Amino acid sequence: MGILITGADGYLGRRAVSALLETTGDEFVLAVRAADAAELAAKRDRLDAELGAAGHGRVTVVGADLTRDDALADVDPRRVTAIVHAAAVTRFSVDRETAQRVNVDGTVRLARFARRCPDLRRFTLLSTLYTAGRHTGDVPERRHEDAGFVNFYEWSKWRAEQHLFDSGLPLSVLRLPTVIAEDDGGTVVQYNAFHNTLKLFYYGLLSLMPGEPSTPLALGTAAFTSAAVAHLVRPEVPAGIYHVTPDPAQTLTLGQLIDLTFDVYERDDNFRRRNLMRPIYCDRQSFDDMVDIARRLKGGPIEQAVASVAPFGTQLYLHKTFRNEALRAAWPGYAAPDPLALADAVCDHLVASRWGRQPVTRQLEGAL
Ligand SMILES: NC(=O)c1ccc[n+]([C@@H]2O[C@H](COP(=O)([O-])OP(=O)(O)OC[C@H]3O[C@@H](n4cnc5c(N)ncnc54)[C@H](OP(=O)(O)O)[C@@H]3O)[C@@H](O)[C@H]2O)c1
Repeated sequence: MGILITGADGYLGRRAVSALLETTGDEFVLAVRAADAAELAAKRDRLDAELGAAGHGRVTVVGADLTRDDALADVDPRRVTAIVHAAAVTRFSVDRETAQRVNVDGTVRLARFARRCPDLRRFTLLSTLYTAGRHTGDVPERRHEDAGFVNFYEWSKWRAEQHLFDSGLPLSVLRLPTVIAEDDGGTVVQYNAFHNTLKLFYYGLLSLMPGEPSTPLALGTAAFTSAAVAHLVRPEVPAGIYHVTPDPAQTLTLGQLIDLTFDVYERDDNFRRRNLMRPIYCDRQSFDDMVDIARRLKGGPIEQAVASVAPFGTQLYLHKTFRNEALRAAWPGYAAPDPLALADAVCDHLVASRWGRQPVTRQLEGAL
């Protein structure tokens, strides 16, 4: 009997598999998107190599493109006791049609398969804190009403949640923050909108900051997130909605993050030589105008810079406090990363590695 994990070769999927191999005695069916046999073989080899001895004899890798009706034809429903659904298109700039096809319809297909599993005890969806969309204020660990969304990624993850809430499956929804590093050491492997925005500031390509300095920013690490998944999928932990995020009092604000980022940048000779100013916060109307103008200047560096910030910039004006009482009750060993120390370590890594383009000699020297 085993645990089926979709998106098992994705950034968090791989780490969740490793954590679960350590904490359970289960077998695993790892579902990966693969266009053909060659891609499936390459993904299987990579997963086998990464999981090493821990995976031997316990892991089966299957191809499962969730946009296809026959996606799970190779999986025997009688052998599946738990499902962790990590597969998704995760770009904030995803278009509506793709988001619907993969994130919504793919979840509907998986739920249909789940209903055919006679011994299924838990269906766990990896979701995002931002299914809260345009809600402001306290955000409890509950089903959200439609408050509007700032991009189709948020919208599609919310639609996926809604479908599963109505499905009657034994559901847990783990709403995750933006993952910015491997662990507290600050090493970055998966680059996302967070890192790309900080890069624009480092190179002087963005001088206006959308958002308000007091807006809280929920940030996490892959280590914290995969430990949470490994704990919360246990059968003895009650099914529910969990915000896998630091306590509200332990959450950075946008202003703290930008100040800290520039403190780190200003320790770097290359950055100091360029005499760049710290960004100026702009109001929402000015930000919308900037996005509009940049779109008309097609193909230029301004369009590219603004295009990477535009899909989430509006969230930086929408103050939210993500409550996490359910998480803390269900996970007594809960220990979220210290937000200031984490942001400092991440910025340091980004500068030292030039956003992943060069080895991090500075950190290595420190470790010797
Ligand atoms: N990382 C974060 O900061 C974060 C924050 C909040 C929520 N989450 C949620 O956590 C989950 C995992 O995120 P991640 O960071 O691991 O994302 P990721 O690295 O982008 O991995 C996504 C996985 O989904 C697979 N996938 C995409 N389209 C598919 C399809 N049509 N059929 C089957 N599989 C498909 C991808 O395969 P290919 O690579 O082959 O396309 C990949 O294995 C997602 O549901 C995401 O919404 C992540």
